[in-house]
Amino acid sequence: MKLIGPFKQIVTLANLPLRGKLSDDQLQIIKDGGIISENGIIRKTGNYKDLKSEFPDIETETIESVQVALPAFTDSHTHICFGGNRANDFAMRNAGKTYLEIAESGGGIWSSVQHTRNASDEELLKTTLERINFLISLGITTIEIKSGYGLDVENELKMLRVIKKAQNFTKATLVPTCLSAHLKPRDFEGNNEEYLNYILDEILPKVKEENLANRVDIFIEKSAFQPEESKSFLLKAKEMGFEITVHADQFTAGSSRIAVEVGAKSADHLEATVDEDIQFLADSETVAVALPGASLGLGEKFTPARKILDGGGILAIASDWNPGSAPMGNLITQASILATFEKLSTAEVLAGITFRSAFALNLEDRGTLEEGKKADFVTFKTDNFQNVFYQQGSLKAESVYIDGEKI
Ligand code: NIG
Ligand code: FE
Repeated sequence: MKLIGPFKQIVTLANLPLRGKLSDDQLQIIKDGGIISENGIIRKTGNYKDLKSEFPDIETETIESVQVALPAFTDSHTHICFGGNRANDFAMRNAGKTYLEIAESGGGIWSSVQHTRNASDEELLKTTLERINFLISLGITTIEIKSGYGLDVENELKMLRVIKKAQNFTKATLVPTCLSAHLKPRDFEGNNEEYLNYILDEILPKVKEENLANRVDIFIEKSAFQPEESKSFLLKAKEMGFEITVHADQFTAGSSRIAVEVGAKSADHLEATVDEDIQFLADSETVAVALPGASLGLGEKFTPARKILDGGGILAIASDWNPGSAPMGNLITQASILATFEKLSTAEVLAGITFRSAFALNLEDRGTLEEGKKADFVTFKTDNFQNVFYQQGSLKAESVYIDGEKI
């Protein structure tokens, strides 16, 4: 058992609702607080001096400077296992080509597929771990990672095995997702439906067998998979026991409805979601995941986060870090910018990258600093937690703790 502190503020995020809007005055803030961790779990939080008198013999880890502590963050949507880069797409987009035009001409996702297929396992593992370490440095200790740049049995399994192996080299929690339905690869002989059946028949059984992922994702979009074929694919994947998540409404409206109808855990993107679908989603159990990094990467509008929250939805915010639409990878900067455009309270931003995004991954053991939760937290050298988002990511995390240990 160990007492860590004192912290000028501990923002616990305890006792907040899973869904709907939040105001900053709902935040529980412990002044001059301490955190007691035991075997990686929070035993108690409270006033530092009170905790010391309650547990007089406790080992202490003293924080010498003025710092605030927040629950560590969860990034529930990334594509950080990839080869090569797409700086050329960036140049083409800025010269007037659209994301979908670039995809149709063989750039875009397909170009990352070729680089990823050509990369060795060691190379992929190394670059994936570098990106994981960057995310940890921001205070993110739970990271979802998708396949989707392999797009055949061999290479999708290669990606998922690399992601599984990466878990041996990091204390962050990695959550793998099978995104073989990212795009029908150009070298697949057959139509979309045949490719989706190939995933169901050839890829997913092996993913299960090797325990490589228990989540399945699909990109429903004009250039990728169409609504009806996607729906039947998702229902079959669900029958096989996979949790469902969807790349929905990025450019074209309609697929967030499918996500809700199939009982997806989350519908991610939603930049193009129309008002009645926003309410349909907000009334559902499906988490709406805003990906401001993709809006910034492509110069597209932001996910209607304000409307989703006002409608009573569950809103999470994730980085979508990938080589094409969202190369930045800085979730703190992205969430801060989303807040300014969508008028989100700091409480809504914080909830969106902590317990609400952890819920999107079915991890209800983390995301708040209260008794019984995983002792993952991040500290910043400041006397006021608001500065973290006010400074749009330029205030760097001071320390990151996983299971009560500073890493
Ligand atoms: O979430 N939209 C589809 N998939 C990714 C982009 C992947 C890529 O461009 O490489 C996304 O934005
Ligand atoms: Fe994505």
